[in-house]
Amino acid sequence: MQRRRFLELSAGSLAGLATLPAARAESAVRGLARFSVSRGIQASTIKLNLRARARRVGILPGARTPVWSFTGRVVEGGSDRLETLAGSYLGPILRFHQGDRVEIAFKNRLPEASIVHWHGLHVPESADGHPRLAIGPGKTYRYSYEVRNRAGTYWYHPHPHTRTGPQVYYGLAGLIIVTDDEEQALDLPRGAFDLPLVLQDRNFGAANELRYDGDARVGFLGETILVNGRPDHVLDVDSRPYRLRLLNGSNSRIYKLEFGSGVRVRVIGTDGGLLRRAVKRPYLTLAPAERLELWVDFGGRAAGEEIVLRSLEFDGGHFGLGIASSGLAQGAAFDVMRFRIARAVNDPQPLPRRLARFERLRIGDAVNSAAPKTFSYRMHQGRWTINERQFEMEAVSSEETVNLGTMEAWDVVNASGSGSGGPGGMLMPHPVHLHGAPFQVIERSVPDRYRAVWDTLADGYVDKGWKDTVLLMPGERARLLKRFDDYSGLFLHHCHNLEHEDAGMMRNFLVV
Ligand code: C2O
Ligand code: CU
Ligand code: CU
Repeated sequence: MQRRRFLELSAGSLAGLATLPAARAESAVRGLARFSVSRGIQASTIKLNLRARARRVGILPGARTPVWSFTGRVVEGGSDRLETLAGSYLGPILRFHQGDRVEIAFKNRLPEASIVHWHGLHVPESADGHPRLAIGPGKTYRYSYEVRNRAGTYWYHPHPHTRTGPQVYYGLAGLIIVTDDEEQALDLPRGAFDLPLVLQDRNFGAANELRYDGDARVGFLGETILVNGRPDHVLDVDSRPYRLRLLNGSNSRIYKLEFGSGVRVRVIGTDGGLLRRAVKRPYLTLAPAERLELWVDFGGRAAGEEIVLRSLEFDGGHFGLGIASSGLAQGAAFDVMRFRIARAVNDPQPLPRRLARFERLRIGDAVNSAAPKTFSYRMHQGRWTINERQFEMEAVSSEETVNLGTMEAWDVVNASGSGSGGPGGMLMPHPVHLHGAPFQVIERSVPDRYRAVWDTLADGYVDKGWKDTVLLMPGERARLLKRFDDYSGLFLHHCHNLEHEDAGMMRNFLVV
């Protein structure tokens, strides 16, 4: 029964199949030929209604679990623009084409204030979901924006100040998949062979209720790993290549992913879409809010074979700090899910040698190339801060003010702080996220004393593509190049450990 629901869910990732009964959906997936589900969508005007509301979903055997969920409906633009994931608390997948004009009426039917942010999309200030725009219960916020991003995997989630962690935790998150003409011309696995996988961790109580024991220091680390909102962990696949779109939708957990049994895995995309060429890594590091797109070849495997996707052990960088939540510590090893070869086929579909156009940014083009700005993420006087400041709804400092139409170099640093905790104050991983257009990571460094911790994760970084979130391990420094084009106004930069963000490790930047 559990597995049946997971199959229904994976079938739900195909346009139009979401509403079929499970058994039919399963056979429909198996029957698809490689190109029978082509996503030939064109740029147009899309109008959607989206609401956030309480409902109940069966996740574990027994009682259904009360969750908060996004539900949606297409008002204009074609029903294939929105795909409901049956049996999951996750919101519908929104499918956009570069150039789309999007209008979304967001209705808040939660018992508290909220606002939606389109993580990774480069949108105007009024559409970015800043916490000062949060609306109360029963109210509606109208978004209007053009999709300017490259083809890629993005997501949406709430962004009210101090309540982002719990709202995401109770189920408010969904994927946005953007396509463009360049991607559509590329021979990558599509349709049934292009699967999103949203990784999250949760804790359940005796009545199957979600237990949120987030902690402002460590964050939230759950014992049950959910993929696409399901604990089942088994996905039937054909023995051929797949495109897997991974999103770490967890509040605080970092994954160090490895596919077992010598499966060929190549990274084809990062937060901001496809790389120029596929790259190989010994394992994949995926911090909260990051995305990775993979080309994974199950070819040559016999029916019935199983492949385990595992998260490997690493040093969580807590320096002996007590971990409040029970269960899996940051850096513990566990199984994420299994792929089972349901059908042996002969359908090789080689990986294209070139994927997408990609322009490498150069430091010489930054207006501050001689003096990059520093943003220091650290504990200061017992609080999580950025350059020793906490979030203030409207405030911006001089270094947080940038000129429209320029590119800047920002050094983001996970610095030792003051206050209690391990040596040098409390050091913990910080996944740093910047709103607006994506950036590039041009270099990283870590002092010798933190090197051993860093070495347990750093080979899994993929810095070759466009990023909007960059993991900083203790002591680590990353140099980012970011353009501030198109839109002036107030945007956010923050730690995407959602409990750190809620505790004030967030600031505005102002584009003037
Ligand atoms: Cu995904 Cu400002 O957040
Ligand atoms: Cu964002
Ligand atoms: Cu943090």
